[in-house]
Amino acid sequence: MVEETPWQQALRYANRANPYPFYEELRRTPVARQPDGSYVVSTYREVVQLLHDPRVTSDQRKRPDTPSNPFEATIITEDPSEHDVDRRRMMRHFAPPECPQTIADFEPEIRRVFGELLNDMKGKTRVDFVDEFAFPGPVTVICKVLGVPLESIPRFHGWIEAALDGLDFGPEANDPEQQRRTAAVPDQVAEFRQFLAGLIDQYRKQPGPGMFSGMVNDGGPEGLSQQSIVRNAMLMLFAGHETTVNLIAHSVLNLLRHPDQLEKLRRRPELIVPGVEELLRFESSVQFWPTRSALEDIEIAGTTIPKGAPIFLAYGSANRDPERFENPDRLDLERPDNQHVGYSQGIHYCFGAPLARLEAQTAVGEFVRRVQNPRLVEDPPPYRRNQIFRGPRHVWVDIDGIRD
Ligand code: HEM
Repeated sequence: MVEETPWQQALRYANRANPYPFYEELRRTPVARQPDGSYVVSTYREVVQLLHDPRVTSDQRKRPDTPSNPFEATIITEDPSEHDVDRRRMMRHFAPPECPQTIADFEPEIRRVFGELLNDMKGKTRVDFVDEFAFPGPVTVICKVLGVPLESIPRFHGWIEAALDGLDFGPEANDPEQQRRTAAVPDQVAEFRQFLAGLIDQYRKQPGPGMFSGMVNDGGPEGLSQQSIVRNAMLMLFAGHETTVNLIAHSVLNLLRHPDQLEKLRRRPELIVPGVEELLRFESSVQFWPTRSALEDIEIAGTTIPKGAPIFLAYGSANRDPERFENPDRLDLERPDNQHVGYSQGIHYCFGAPLARLEAQTAVGEFVRRVQNPRLVEDPPPYRRNQIFRGPRHVWVDIDGIRD
């Protein structure tokens, strides 16, 4: 049997709870060629360098081996100038300068949503902080921001889960069970697309609340095409909660694993702002991004990435790079100079970061303030399959009660 590379080992499901020893090995070769001809970049300096390098494209259409990607072309897989124009056409319905108040106006709603989820736990002694907190909070918030009916959550959640389960970049991709999951993806994505196309059509006929209606009724040649709206709507609905769910779930898990940090946050609630940044550095909700490739030969860290080669930027590993972060495996809510790449950098820098920050600060802050004597039931907890959007499937916690 051929020995697996550290990257292949990190991608195995059995290592989902702790890929970090494999990342450490991987970082010895900052830019590592894989047996399939792709290149994995695992060190902070090189990840940041390539994020700002115009010789790196995110556009799948420019790749010689155009991969089968369940999520079709969106701003995340466009290059300038197409990317910049489309991103602005979306952003102006979401953030400053055109919509300076959108996110700020959601603060009371976000507080109410997470507050009610905690109220619902009253009287319970054991709670799953994924199914009862980290998932329903962000999914409710993103539905309201975008204008998606809350009743549709179970349906689109099923399609997204199935699509994520079917995506495997590791050595298990060829296992018969995984191939069955992968075969199901196109149908799930088609249903998801059809659902959003229907919703967007409805908003065209009758405008309503939220960002989707704003994008559809933007009007004139300046707006996005119908197809582009549907594809980017898929991206936003999915990226707008899957990532935040994992950040909140991992935050609960890691605070319970580090009682000194939990106690510090209880005594000094203002640490929630730098604290959430550190929690995202410590366990990045987007472990890597798989859509980049080289437009030319690129010399970097003693390696040449040949033109056309796929490039994986390993954010989860860069955020644990000891060359950039002192004691990277230590959770330190007061870490100075914490410029992690959890939301990426450069032109694809996360569009939703201000919303994600507000949600995570509210959710984790309220968890710390209100949950009495929380104790982890299972450590490590079971993990979700997906390698990019890495997070626990459940975080069972025993509690003594919920404060008002
Ligand atoms: C903790 C939560 C989140 C994390 C960790 C996260 C992370 C990321 C990362 C790493 C990228 C860059 C991918 C790349 O090209 O390498 C990205 C892009 C993006 N994110 Fe987020 N995200 C989060 C929440 C959100 C939310 C709440 C929304 C929607 C409101 C959102 C929408 C997007 C969009 C639309 C892009 C594409 C931007 C572009 O290509 O210009 N994300 N995110």
